[in-house]
Amino acid sequence: MSKVELNETLRVISERHSVKKYETGVQMPEEDLQMILKAAGEAPSAWNLQHWKFLVIESEADKQKLLPIAYNQSQVAESCLTVAVLGDLEANRNTVIYDQAVEAGFLKADIRDALVGQINGAYQSPQVARDSAIRNASLAAQNIMLAAKSLGYDTCPMSGFNPEQLIEGFNIPDRYLPVMLITVGKAKEPAHPSGRLPLSETIVRGSF
Ligand SMILES: Cc1cc2nc3c(=O)[nH]c(=O)nc-3n(C[C@H](O)[C@H](O)[C@H](O)COP(=O)(O)O)c2cc1C
Repeated sequence: MSKVELNETLRVISERHSVKKYETGVQMPEEDLQMILKAAGEAPSAWNLQHWKFLVIESEADKQKLLPIAYNQSQVAESCLTVAVLGDLEANRNTVIYDQAVEAGFLKADIRDALVGQINGAYQSPQVARDSAIRNASLAAQNIMLAAKSLGYDTCPMSGFNPEQLIEGFNIPDRYLPVMLITVGKAKEPAHPSGRLPLSETIVRGSF
């Protein structure tokens, strides 16, 4: 057996593929959804600002509303649910996370204040806010896909949707930027085969 087959994490990573055909009428147990979303929130994030919000689209009516927004890609209607991963454009407001650390004695108050100042300074730039929202929410998205796979579900990440219509249809506040949709469900058909570039073409050792 190869190391990939023996190692659960590497196996889940290599077995995750984008599934587009799902068994319909499957209800995901709440416990599974909670485990998947907890794993999502365990992703790392810059300054630990946790630049994400997960909008779970699961009722039949909401799936039908999402279908045309996702350009009629049938996986949003047929899977158990779709998680709209949203990036937080005002993640500098999440510095409240440091207050807990100060109260618990892990962080000095003056260091917290200096960090909050730095963060608010960086967030003066809309580009920093947007890049950070996308970068950090994408890490949470990958956790969703891997956690779902390890629990016996398949997923499909999707940027094929109309973000303005998603925002309007699901009352998403200005604070949040739609980053991607992820369908989660039980596969009816395996993913289309997808190749990868050879490692030799994607790796640069040392310097260009
Ligand atoms: C950001 C992103 C957007 C994607 N958007 C779509 C999409 O709208 N519809 C779709 O069917 N697949 C979509 N995919 C899936 C890709 O086509 C797929 O990940 C790629 O072909 C590699 O295949 P694999 O995921 O099965 O390994 C998207 C993937 C990513 C990462």
